[in-house]
Amino acid sequence: MTESPLLSVTDLVLGVKRSKGSTVIVDGVSFDVATGNRFGIVGESGSGKSMSLRAIANLLPAGVNVMSGSIKYNGEELVGMNRVKRRRLMGPEIAMIFQEPMTALNPVMRVGDQIAEGPRRYLGLSRKAAMELAVSMMARTGIPDPAKRALAYPHQLSGGLRQRIMIAMAISCRPKLILCDEPTTALDVTVQHQVLRLLEELCDDFGASLVFVTHDLAVVNQTCRDLAVMYAGRMVETGAVKDVFRDPRHPYTKGLLDSAPDFDQPGRALVPIPGFPPNLAHRENACSFAPRCPFVQERCLEGAPVLERVEDGRESACFFSDEIFKKVRV
Ligand SMILES: Nc1ncnc2c1ncn2[C@@H]1O[C@H](COP(=O)(O)OP(=O)(O)OP(=O)(O)O)[C@@H](O)[C@H]1O
Ligand SMILES: [Mg+2]
Repeated sequence: MTESPLLSVTDLVLGVKRSKGSTVIVDGVSFDVATGNRFGIVGESGSGKSMSLRAIANLLPAGVNVMSGSIKYNGEELVGMNRVKRRRLMGPEIAMIFQEPMTALNPVMRVGDQIAEGPRRYLGLSRKAAMELAVSMMARTGIPDPAKRALAYPHQLSGGLRQRIMIAMAISCRPKLILCDEPTTALDVTVQHQVLRLLEELCDDFGASLVFVTHDLAVVNQTCRDLAVMYAGRMVETGAVKDVFRDPRHPYTKGLLDSAPDFDQPGRALVPIPGFPPNLAHRENACSFAPRCPFVQERCLEGAPVLERVEDGRESACFFSDEIFKKVRV
């Protein structure tokens, strides 16, 4: 018998309530994350990456709802789970790291106390023991002079240090699953690399799994083993990062790769994807990438392709994934 995945998201549909009905913003997202895996979700702005992640953490903004689908953590259904039970999972089991630490940190509380809060509440540590743990977590995330810095307020620290505080907060209860929403986007490139390496190291040391949302393909390449590419609320391609990057099977993924700098070929011209993502309130019964797709054919306008297996461990939602990419490679 194979072990069930740590996280299993199946046919997740998220909607925003409008005066007339609902607009679907995430449409049928499915993915599994095995214990110890690092899974990336990429896509342009507005493709539904953050909302998918927030649904897992039960942190959807007001007005956005799970309309259907399932989110299983360790085999247990999270959708519809009672609030108290679900809240108990956050911290010791699941933690989330956001793009902008200032939105997650309390501006009027010393950072050491903020990190110590989780271990006190969830691990039952005394005030003193929790503070010792907080300082050791700060040291672990590479914060110099942690005992002194624990007394600082968030605004007294640099962006890079604040991001490390948030990581220390997230890992302080040794969660098994860490959800990251663009955790390094606000940082400069050198600090970004340091923080990513730190996250990887901590995941390995603590045996934590990672779901990593970003629009930066280089970050996914560095950090994740598997990925899903989202477009207009749907997944259009999934597979191992190395396979998808070498040989994309969806025209959107190919567009993303062609429009991103390539470290192996620094001189290569960047080709942006023309046009804009569709308005989700007026979804047509056609492939949503069709208006921007260089390979579009009549069939693409007559119905939307669904995600289908293209080879072992790989899926693509394109009617022509085989033919097109054979052509591209010739
Ligand atoms: N609070 C909200 N209320 C209603 N709709 C929202 C809200 N936040 C986001 N949306 C909508 O949900 C859709 C998906 O947004 P989401 O934030 O998940 O995108 P994203 O892929 O994370 O984009 P980005 O790369 O810009 O962070 C978008 O169409 C957006 O307009
Ligand atoms: Mg986002």
